[in-house]
Amino acid sequence: MNQPVSGFSKKTKAEKIEWLAENYLQNNPNSIQVLKNYCNDNPSLQQLHDDFTENTLSNYYLPFGIAPNFLINEKLYALPMVTEESSVVAAASNTAKFWLERGGFKAEVISTEKNGQIHFNYFGKEKDIETFFEEVKPKLRDSIQAIEKNMKARGGGLLELSLVDKSHILEGYFYVHATFETLDAMGANFINSCLEQMAQEFEKEARIFGAFNKTEIFPEVVMSILSNYVPGCLVRAEVSCNVEELTTKYQEGSHFAEKFVRAIEIAKTETRRAVTHNKGIMNGVDAVVLATGNDFRAVEAGVHAYAARNSYYGSLTHAKVESDIFTFWIELPLAVGTVGGLTSLHPLTKLAFEILQKPDAKQLMKIMAVAGLAQNFAAIRSLVTTGIQKGHMKMHLMNIMNQLQASSEEKAKSLNFFKENTVSHSSVVSFLENLRK
Ligand code: MEV
Repeated sequence: MNQPVSGFSKKTKAEKIEWLAENYLQNNPNSIQVLKNYCNDNPSLQQLHDDFTENTLSNYYLPFGIAPNFLINEKLYALPMVTEESSVVAAASNTAKFWLERGGFKAEVISTEKNGQIHFNYFGKEKDIETFFEEVKPKLRDSIQAIEKNMKARGGGLLELSLVDKSHILEGYFYVHATFETLDAMGANFINSCLEQMAQEFEKEARIFGAFNKTEIFPEVVMSILSNYVPGCLVRAEVSCNVEELTTKYQEGSHFAEKFVRAIEIAKTETRRAVTHNKGIMNGVDAVVLATGNDFRAVEAGVHAYAARNSYYGSLTHAKVESDIFTFWIELPLAVGTVGGLTSLHPLTKLAFEILQKPDAKQLMKIMAVAGLAQNFAAIRSLVTTGIQKGHMKMHLMNIMNQLQASSEEKAKSLNFFKENTVSHSSVVSFLENLRK
């Protein structure tokens, strides 16, 4: 029976590993060796990674790949992509090449507004809280002057403050809605610091407000936090071409476009399909989000909430054919940064920004939207033509061959054999057993 541990965070890394080995790994030297194998030999580089978070014992690698040939607004990019999923980078590269020959991607940022709320309880007269809010609003603004100084000097900062009454949905529930411009920063720390400071000011001023003192009913702050729902921070990316340019060996362009548009309509109509459809989009978006050290949980949460903004969950992409022109586009919220957080700390993230030719946050939003659109194009193209498994199976085959420690020669032979035969774990195992006999 394992026992709880106290003071774990105070132990050295070696002591933590020893404790883990004793309590959860039966002192298995192989398990301890796995942790050691993934540590970096360069002590200062390892220390950097240790310090990103708490109780670090080792590193967890994900492949860092490149999808070249992305023509975005007439400029060529190679996209750094971090993902563990096979076929994602290959699909991005193929799609980039496909659209490179058809005019590339067009992308634009629609808006860049972030937001946060001071959530509070108030059970008094509506009129009193409204009057109080109007009086306190300039004081809330003044209270964050020191926090806002640098951001303001660069052209950002707090935009608007408004009072939102939600007491018809939850008794006594109101919030102060604050909007911000955070320029090249994702802005989470900045927004949260502003909100917490304004919340203190809000409560301080409430304690001396006449009407509240008279009724002895005061507003009480419950919490102050940014929102990862950012429908005011939107980006759009698009591709288009004549339907004839979509003709492949499998299909006439017009028929392909018709099926493609139909696939999008299905994803707009049916949540079961929309979730998988959007998941495929996020395969591309997240890979660039991760490569650039951005917060993929924030992006995921915001994007999916946006997909459900009309009270049902639908596709983030759209497609149409008009006068023989096929247009395919995406619109999604992306609150990401090119400064702050991990972006200037992680050596691979810094490299990713170099590869992307040092984009600002708006350019990065466009690049990520394109990565999502490209991934969706690749998925739908496979789905409405060959099916998804054909491409996946080659990667699947290589994963199994690697698990079975196959040599290069064995891999080449397997690729040839499985061109005509169905890949499954057991079929690959027996193929290899026969080969090794
Ligand atoms: C797999 O990771 C993503 C897909 O399922 C997306 C889709 O179905 O559109 C291929």
